Amino acid sequence: MLDVVTFVQRHLDASLAYRFACRVGMCGSCAMTVNGTPRWTCRTHVDAIAKRGVLEIAPLANLPIVRDLVTDMRTFFDKWSRAHGQFKGETTRRDEFATVRPDSPERRHADASIECIGCGICYASCDVVRWRPEFLGPAALNRAFTLVNDVRDRDGVARMRAVAGDAGCHACHTQGSCTNLCPKHLAPTSAIAELKRTTANAALRGQLG
Ligand code: SF4
Ligand code: SF4
Ligand code: FES
Repeated sequence: MLDVVTFVQRHLDASLAYRFACRVGMCGSCAMTVNGTPRWTCRTHVDAIAKRGVLEIAPLANLPIVRDLVTDMRTFFDKWSRAHGQFKGETTRRDEFATVRPDSPERRHADASIECIGCGICYASCDVVRWRPEFLGPAALNRAFTLVNDVRDRDGVARMRAVAGDAGCHACHTQGSCTNLCPKHLAPTSAIAELKRTTANAALRGQLG
């Protein structure tokens, strides 16, 4: 699909704006809507989706459009920030590297979520984001879940407070579009379900007050 878009830009309309970088499914920047579904265009074969010989290409949904096929990702990453998606450790550069054993239960638990590259496909597929633009969305919540399971992180309670609010994990309807479409085969729906349990337990213990 990315080759089709590139052909259009090079041969039919030089003004067409679109975004890509790696062309091999690593950066996530080529995400667009193709025949109604958000996809990485560089990893999508035309044959697989142009069943009736028609291709309709549009920018990702649920994000402001900068121009043509280019969306403004600022809201998406602002929500990572609101969900405390940044790692907060306590060691300094003078300390030994903090290690996480690959076979530890916590590391294995985070496996289903850790490889997110921030492409926004899950976010574009989420009906709750469409209905409630303030909803943090699957990628930010998936990131929060990853850090909740990182034994080196020290921002746990503040992060849980951030994702337990009205626009956080409890607003997810568990319909699973995010998980069905994630090209990295991650499972934001399960991560969010677990955040719901973790934050509910923390609230019962009086930690989020
Ligand atoms: S969870 Fe998957 S679809 Fe969502 S931003 Fe990360 S890699 Fe992309
Ligand atoms: S499972 Fe939740 S976060 Fe994922 S698409 Fe559905 S409502 Fe959105
Ligand atoms: S161009 Fe990087 S994932 Fe498609």
